[in-house]
Amino acid sequence: MQVLRQALQEWYNSHQRDLPWRHTNDPYAIWLSEIILQQTRVDQGLPYYQRFLSNYPDVLQLAAATQQEVLNLWQGLGYYSRGRNLHATAQQIAQDYSGVFPDTHEGLLKLKGVGPYTAAAIASFAYNLPHAVIDGNVFRVLSRYFGIEAPINSTEGKPIFEALAKELLDQGNPALHNQAIMEFGALQCKPVSPNCSACPVLTTCSAHRNNQVALLPIKLKKVKVRKRFFVYHLQQNAQKQLAFQKRGPKDIWEGLFEFPLTEFADENQLKSYLADQIIIGGRFQHILTHQRIEAYFVVDPNWNQMHSDVIFLDLAGLQDHPIPRLIDKFLIAHSNELF
Ligand code: ADE
Repeated sequence: MQVLRQALQEWYNSHQRDLPWRHTNDPYAIWLSEIILQQTRVDQGLPYYQRFLSNYPDVLQLAAATQQEVLNLWQGLGYYSRGRNLHATAQQIAQDYSGVFPDTHEGLLKLKGVGPYTAAAIASFAYNLPHAVIDGNVFRVLSRYFGIEAPINSTEGKPIFEALAKELLDQGNPALHNQAIMEFGALQCKPVSPNCSACPVLTTCSAHRNNQVALLPIKLKKVKVRKRFFVYHLQQNAQKQLAFQKRGPKDIWEGLFEFPLTEFADENQLKSYLADQIIIGGRFQHILTHQRIEAYFVVDPNWNQMHSDVIFLDLAGLQDHPIPRLIDKFLIAHSNELF
C-alpha cells in the first residue's frame, strides 16, 4: 500500500497535466469540470469548461440562465439530458442552499446527478476531505496492481475495490492522492498499451508479474436478454406420429428438430393467437444465455402452414433425431397424452 501510495504522488508531481480545475478549490468549478468530464475526454471538455465558467462564473448565474442558453453552451457534448440536469442542479443549489455548495460528502450526495464518485471528487478537491474517488482509471490501477480478478461491476467486486481505494487513500492529502491515481490511470496505466516499461511500480505490480495486464480489469458485459414467443403446433398424421421440422442456420438450435413453429414478435400477438387455441401443458419458460423463450404447444386443426420438409416421428423415431431441451421437457411431461 505504502509503496504504491508514495509512488503515485511522486509520479504525479513530474507527469501531471496542467488542467485548470486543478488550480481551484471552488466546488462549483470542480463540480462543473466533473460533469463535463463524465461526458467527454479532457481535451474536448476543456473549452466547454472555460466557456461555462466565463459565461457563468458562479452557480447563481448558471441557475439564473435560461435552459435554452445552457443547452446552447452544452451543444456538441451530446446527451442533452445531462445539460438539463446541470442546469436543474444549479437551480437546486440556488433555491435550497442559497447558492452555497454542501461541504460534506453526505451533503453533496443529495445533489441531483451527484453520485458517490462526483461527491468524493468534490469533497476531496474542494475541501480536502478524505474520500477516495473510484472511476474507471482507479478501477484499472487497483485491479492491475493488486491482481483483483473480481469484475469491477459485480456485487462481489465492488466492495473489494471500495475497500482497497479507501485503504490506499492518503489521509493526509486526499486531494493530491485522488488526482494522482486518476492521472496515473489516464496517462500511464492506460487501458490499451500501458507504459509498463516506464512504470514506477512495475516490480510490485501483480498484473505485470502474472502477465495479466491486458486481462485486467474484468468487466461483466451487461447483455440484453431477448424475449421470444414461440407457439409449437402439434400436428399428427393417421399413425399418430407428430410433425417435426429441422431448424435452420443463424439462430439457436441449428440442426435440431422441433414441432412446426410460429414465432410471434411480441406478447400481444401471442396472446391474441392463443385466445382460441387448445393449449397442452400451459406455458413453458426456457432460459438461454441471451434469450428468454416463452413457449406454448397447441393443437390447431385449422392450421395449414406446414412446410414441405416436415417429417413425422413417433417416440422411437425421435431416438436418432436430436431435439432442443425445451421440446424434450414438453415430451417428457405430455407425450402420454399424444401417442
Ligand atoms: N476526469 C474526471 N475528473 C478528472 C480530473 N479531475 N482530472 C482529470 N481527468 C478527470
